[in-house]
Amino acid sequence: MGLAMTNLPINRILPDASQLVFGCMSLGGDWGASTSSAQDLKHAHAAIDAALAVGINFFDHADIYCRGKAESVFGEVLKLRPELRDEIYLQSKCGIKFEDEQGPQRYDFSRQWICDSVEGSLTRLGVEQLDILELHRPDPLMNPEEVAEAFTALKAAGKVKYFGVSNMSGTQMQFLQSYLPYPLVSNQLEMSLQRHSFVDEGVFAVNPDGANINFAAGTLEYCGQNDVQIQSWGSLAQGLYTGKDISDQPIYVRQTADKVAALAGEFGVSAEAIVLAWLLRHPANIQPVIGTANPERITACGQAGKVELSREQWYSLYVSARGEPLP
Ligand SMILES: NC(=O)c1ccc[n+]([C@@H]2O[C@H](COP(=O)([O-])OP(=O)(O)OC[C@H]3O[C@@H](n4cnc5c(N)ncnc54)[C@H](OP(=O)(O)O)[C@@H]3O)[C@@H](O)[C@H]2O)c1
Repeated sequence: MGLAMTNLPINRILPDASQLVFGCMSLGGDWGASTSSAQDLKHAHAAIDAALAVGINFFDHADIYCRGKAESVFGEVLKLRPELRDEIYLQSKCGIKFEDEQGPQRYDFSRQWICDSVEGSLTRLGVEQLDILELHRPDPLMNPEEVAEAFTALKAAGKVKYFGVSNMSGTQMQFLQSYLPYPLVSNQLEMSLQRHSFVDEGVFAVNPDGANINFAAGTLEYCGQNDVQIQSWGSLAQGLYTGKDISDQPIYVRQTADKVAALAGEFGVSAEAIVLAWLLRHPANIQPVIGTANPERITACGQAGKVELSREQWYSLYVSARGEPLP
């Protein structure tokens, strides 16, 4: 895809995995509908085609996306185009349960739920195996031995190739890993030019007072030292700097969008390419997950590999997005 800076930890186990990941959360149509429509299937084909056209071969799901319909509509696409399965990597997540008659929205890392959830994802996607299964959000009631049992059973049955996590700190990963027979290969975290706490955490490591940091200390370092692929969700900041109406946003947000637009002009690329290039310039070797289902925006994201921001350009965006200068 022309993304030159690929030295991704994930490539050691999934050769040729693309640096950009297509996030499938917006596929499947209306979250409230019981089934997807023919139009939703058409949109899914168009989005997947746009992703493939820019070299994306890595697709991120979760059992809960569109209440299962994101995986189902993707499965419909695969049914019509079975040759695609061997050309792509499929990742899904489990562990979140929506509010229902049994209780409020909650997390469940029990062996039973992890295994049942994977079964559901495989059925909806119509595939035999997930390349990666991630635990979606830390479950405070987790029994790590049960997670190990679930992973062992899933691996032995050939249902999951590799395991990862999402929204976990380095310390939580280290604890869980000590019980597991397989290495955790990925951690998906909210990271973007807007949600830049992953950078602040390092900058203000010894003097965090007043810095409003929302990222667990040591997470990047743990992942870096243990070959854990960091994936960023919310990578496009939902369009905050790339064309969404931000007339009601604070001045520093609008100024940041102007800087993104100016850099896009300088490099001759899209604004999406600039916000993704900002993530790609970070030495953590981030794999940005993009959540747009709009084919034009997906194509725009594909230009990210054409940009290598200078130190000054990178800092200029960071400082602007912070809304205040660095100490
Ligand atoms: N692990 C987790 O806890 C977690 C949480 C959330 C998401 N995720 C994953 O990460 C992926 C990306 O996350 P995300 O969707 O939150 O983030 P995102 O990529 O930052 O934002 C995508 C959303 O922003 C909209 N958008 C983008 N540019 C826009 C613009 N210029 N104007 C108006 N709207 C614009 C898109 O709409 P269009 O489709 O119309 O372009 C889409 O709804 C998801 O698909 C999912 O796979 C993971």
